[in-house]
Amino acid sequence: MRTLLWLAPLVVLGGSSCSRPAPPPPSPPFQTVATGKELMNAVLDPAVDVIWDAVGWIVTSEGTFAKAPATDDEWATVRASAIQLAESGNLLMIGNRSGGSPEWITQSQALIDTSRRAIQAIDKKDKDALFTIGGDLYDVCTNCHRQFMPGARQ
Ligand code: HEC
Repeated sequence: MRTLLWLAPLVVLGGSSCSRPAPPPPSPPFQTVATGKELMNAVLDPAVDVIWDAVGWIVTSEGTFAKAPATDDEWATVRASAIQLAESGNLLMIGNRSGGSPEWITQSQALIDTSRRAIQAIDKKDKDALFTIGGDLYDVCTNCHRQFMPGARQ
C-alpha cells in the first residue's frame, strides 16, 4: 500500500510531462472574396439596416406610433439579418482582414456579441430591447470606423 501511495504522484507527474499538447489543426483554406468595402456594402450594411428599420417610431400628423415586426414571419426576417450580422463578425477576422491588429479583432468580436444580444431580444420579441441594441450596433460600427476607416476620424 505504501509503494502504491508513493507511485501515485509519480504517475501523475510522469503523465503530464510526457503528454505534449496536440499540434493545432491546420487552418481551413478560407478565401476572402470581397474587399473590405464590398463586405461592408454587401453584407454588414444591408443586415443592420433590416434591424434598424424593424423597430422605432413613426411620427405622423395623427400621432407617434411604435414600429415593430407584427408577424412571426417578420420577426424571422429580422432574426435572419441578426444572424447574418453576427456571422459577419467572423468574416471580418479571416484572412488578412485584421491586418494583425488585436483592436480589429476586439471590434469584430463586439459585433458578434452585440448581434447575439439582438438575436436574444428577437427571440423574446422584445422590441424595446432590440431598439436599444440597434443603438449599440451603431456604436460598434462607428467605433471601428473611427479607428480603421480612412477619413472617418472625426
Ligand atoms: C472591424 C472593423 C469594422 C466594423 C466592426 C465595421 N466596419 Fe464598416 N468599415 C470598416 C473599414 C476599415 C471600412 C473602410 C473600407 C475601405 O474603404 O476600404 C469600412 C467601411 C464601411 C462602409 C463604407 C463602404 C464604402 O463604400 O466606402 C460602410 C457602409 C460600412 N463600413 C458599414 C458598416 C456597418 C453598417 C457596420 C456595423 C454593422 C460596420 N461597417 C462595422 C471597418 C469596420
